[in-house]
Amino acid sequence: MLTPMTTPAAPHSPFAVAPEVLQALRGVRRVVVFTGAGVSAESGIPTFRDALTGLWSRFDPMALATVDGFWADPDLVWGWYEHRRVAVHHALPNPAHRAIARLARYLPDVTLVTQNVDDLHERAGSPHVLHLHGSLHHPRCLECDTPFPVPPDQAVTRPADPDRLYETVDLLPDGRRLPPPLCPACGGLIRPGVVWFGEALPPGALETALDAAGHCDLLLSVGTSGVVEPAAGIPREAARAGAGVLHVNPQVLHLTGVRQWQANGPAGVVLPALVDAWERV
Ligand code: OAD
Repeated sequence: MLTPMTTPAAPHSPFAVAPEVLQALRGVRRVVVFTGAGVSAESGIPTFRDALTGLWSRFDPMALATVDGFWADPDLVWGWYEHRRVAVHHALPNPAHRAIARLARYLPDVTLVTQNVDDLHERAGSPHVLHLHGSLHHPRCLECDTPFPVPPDQAVTRPADPDRLYETVDLLPDGRRLPPPLCPACGGLIRPGVVWFGEALPPGALETALDAAGHCDLLLSVGTSGVVEPAAGIPREAARAGAGVLHVNPQVLHLTGVRQWQANGPAGVVLPALVDAWERV
């Protein structure tokens, strides 16, 4: 049986692109698309800071997204990220991910920068994605950085048999504590492949993103609260260099500065309409 790679497209998008936004899209060639958790919200992946549904309204980021938290309780942290990794595997790209992939097929220069640790942009067809905050899908050794391959669809834990790399386990609906496997190279703890608070971004990722932002005509900021540094500096850099900045977010944002616009609505509705309109300008 064939499994669909993406969710079906909305038959007809109800979102109307404002005339000033259409005007801003005219003649644009170099674009940076900067995404956050909101772009994956319609795929069923929770955001971080939305009041009732955001992960940080239910979980403590200091316990789950810092190296100190991992040292304090590795089983809690490893189990939480394995739960998220398998949930992402079962999620599907939504119309927003697909619209972004489509944009890159007809504009000459599109750089896609994401703060997300899922792989939904890639699965929607975007080939080069700069993951500023790492990836759930690439765990590695906490001590020596050796990558640790994991099956995409199953959670893993430390095996009882020391000759095996890991054991697969069923997840419970609310997740479960899981001792992390040990590194076959040095015996260190295997950690999730995401960037935690206080850690450096992957080498070169921020520099590449800032360079693209500093040379683009327009930056499209999609589904991000823009409060986490240094990522939040990327739209700032585009604005500083004179590019337009268009925010896609259901929340009405307080914008300051010239050449900033917003399209308010869910990304899965706004982006297909925006990209349709863009193809025609
Ligand atoms: P946040 O949770 O801070 O912000 C999500 C944004 O998406 C909010 O502005 C929402 O209004 C918006 N949003 C919600 N649903 C949406 C939809 N359907 N379409 C468009 N927008 C929608 O997430 P990020 O800004 O990505 O870092 O958070 C930045 C970083 O903080 C994350 O990468 C993560 C977190 O701690 C690490 O894990 C290192």
